[in-house]
Amino acid sequence: MAILFDSRTKTFFLDGKGVTYAFMINKFGYAEHLYYGKTIGHDDLSHTRTRGAGSRDATIPGNDEGGLNVYHYFPTELSFFGTGDYREPAVEVLNGSGDRLTELLYDSHEIVDEKPKINGMPSMRDGETLILHLKDRVTSFACDLYYTVYDDASVIARRAVYINASDETKKLNRAYSFSFSLPDQHYDVISLYGAWGKERTTERIPMHHGVVSIDSKRCASSAVLNPFMALADRDATEEHGDVYGFNLIYSSSYALKTEGINDGRTLVTGGINDFDFCWVLGAGERFETPEVLIAYSSEGIGGMSRALHDALRNHLINPRYAKKPRPIVINNWEGTYFNFTVDKLKSIAKAVEGTGIDTFVLDDGWFGKRDSDRSGLGDWFVNTDKLEGGLTEIIRYVNSLGMKFGLWFEPEMISEDSDIFRAHPEYAVGVPNRPRCYSRHQYMMDITRKEVRDYIVEVMNKVLHENNIEYVKWDYNRNITEFFSFAREPERQAEYAHRYALGLYELFDRIVEANPEIFFEGCSGGGARFDPAILYYFPQIWTSDNSDAEDRTVIQYGTSLAYPLSAMSCHVSEVPNHQTGRMSPLKTRADIAHLGATGYELDTSGFTDAMRAETKKQVEEYREMEELILNGDLYRTADPNSSNFFAFTVVSKDKSSAVLTAYRRLGSTNNEVRYLKVRGLDENKAYYIPELNRTLKGSTVMNLGLVANFGRGDYMTVKYTFKAVDNG
Ligand code: GLA
Repeated sequence: MAILFDSRTKTFFLDGKGVTYAFMINKFGYAEHLYYGKTIGHDDLSHTRTRGAGSRDATIPGNDEGGLNVYHYFPTELSFFGTGDYREPAVEVLNGSGDRLTELLYDSHEIVDEKPKINGMPSMRDGETLILHLKDRVTSFACDLYYTVYDDASVIARRAVYINASDETKKLNRAYSFSFSLPDQHYDVISLYGAWGKERTTERIPMHHGVVSIDSKRCASSAVLNPFMALADRDATEEHGDVYGFNLIYSSSYALKTEGINDGRTLVTGGINDFDFCWVLGAGERFETPEVLIAYSSEGIGGMSRALHDALRNHLINPRYAKKPRPIVINNWEGTYFNFTVDKLKSIAKAVEGTGIDTFVLDDGWFGKRDSDRSGLGDWFVNTDKLEGGLTEIIRYVNSLGMKFGLWFEPEMISEDSDIFRAHPEYAVGVPNRPRCYSRHQYMMDITRKEVRDYIVEVMNKVLHENNIEYVKWDYNRNITEFFSFAREPERQAEYAHRYALGLYELFDRIVEANPEIFFEGCSGGGARFDPAILYYFPQIWTSDNSDAEDRTVIQYGTSLAYPLSAMSCHVSEVPNHQTGRMSPLKTRADIAHLGATGYELDTSGFTDAMRAETKKQVEEYREMEELILNGDLYRTADPNSSNFFAFTVVSKDKSSAVLTAYRRLGSTNNEVRYLKVRGLDENKAYYIPELNRTLKGSTVMNLGLVANFGRGDYMTVKYTFKAVDNG
């Protein structure tokens, strides 16, 4: 059994793959954290409890009997405000009287096999779940803590539900998803920062006394800071040491915090950002918070990533596609931008006929009056002046080549110059009598309103149902300003950012779930909304508008800290690269794009026979390694953030096959010799390596390694494949 309650010691033990999470109900009724890490025995753990600091800290409310253990000095499973716990609170409630006190004590618990869903929000599937019911002794405010463990992933999934069981209205000033305690402070904080074209760049800094915080105030998880944070033992490397990874299943404004407490321990907490947040919780109402995944590995940062990858692939990413071969697209965006005709599109598709590219995606510009990014968003009907014969003609043609057809939408946006804005200016987010900020010349639709969601669902579903569309790219190109809904009372305006997330998930439910035969890819002006909640609906997300192979090594390296390769959409594009102007060899562009869900994005209409043959070869190579991209274990063996090299090895779960892709940024004269030590293979198996035409023992390639021959030049790749040989 994965979850056990020892009634003698009042300790809960939650066992996942290779991990144990333990906490107890102490004599005051508080849920007190004891442990999360490598699997341990179900022992009496009370010897590790602190006896208090003997300081002038507050006592348990109403208990002045003296003695160290009445001081509020234990790490509760959920930190709360106003009764002597001075750590970052996970919750602050404004009660009817104006006081902000909460004291959450154990009431009861349940252990359930069927994981309860979160109302209106995505969450992990499966696993065994503990529901801990906590209750305030005075105010009838309650909180349910959910914990889920898995036998195939080294993670625990956690969330909180806040319940107003009183007959007065309360307000939630803060409603985070979890608090989590660690016994010391020898940690570095790893996060993924960025901007457009630089998404998810890795940063590692030492934690300190006080709070290290990352957040988004953008109503989107954002390119600026991904909702992921890791705490790595200060000595931890890619391969060794304790690492905890936190990944929030949420797409709107969030906060994640690590706090060095004065008692030498560490607190991690977070969830919906409490900046610009206040939720009115009526009598009898519940407030559900997003789920967080907490991964643990003793095998360094790489182990933490593999734990998250397993969890996301096995239990979060839409199971219809999570482990299935992906479409390989030719997308026309960089090939034509807005400037296309039906004949041009046909020639792009025709040029890749027979290469194995199986889906033609028509990007921005097919609808409304959309000849530039200044108009048309929201008018989701085909522009037959531009697209002669409508979608029918181009789809028929693409299908006749044996390819599927995909289409771009940006459903959450509205252009000022659009029929829908002229008819319904109030559909756009804004504050009465204030000018709105433009971003990419556009506004956002107020999807917190039902009539706006109904409009989007109706017009999108019409296009999807009337045409043979088998793939949709769902884009989102700006961040919100003027957070305000014309349709909501003043005291509820600070609910905006979370209501946006709820509106978004409802749209996904009504469009994605209602069209199960369509493959959906997420996108956000590149990769500005790359988070687990999006992956619940869309199995892959466009990683970055920056498709330059050199920059992509850094972006894909950082992204892989939290997300599996199969989640990253990666295209081979033109040189000079449209974002950076850099030249890199076609082989390099393909090798780097093959480390994700691969595709093509360039004007293929001028392809020579040789280019077509090369593309066909690349697609075949990708299909050969795709099973590893979808299901394999990732080992990062060279970090482009700190070296001239990048290397990923992906190994099948049974260690019978693997692929190693390595990249050298700059070449020189007298290039340094680069040994590539392969990770994750079975030392005792023998592997055939076709690129070397030889068979080597796993122990040889893991310990001695291979020596990369990058050849002359900058931005060069090498690739080796490994196939276990019987009786090796
Ligand atoms: C965003 C996307 C691109 C492309 C354009 C179209 O920038 O990231 O891939 O779809 O929008 O306007």
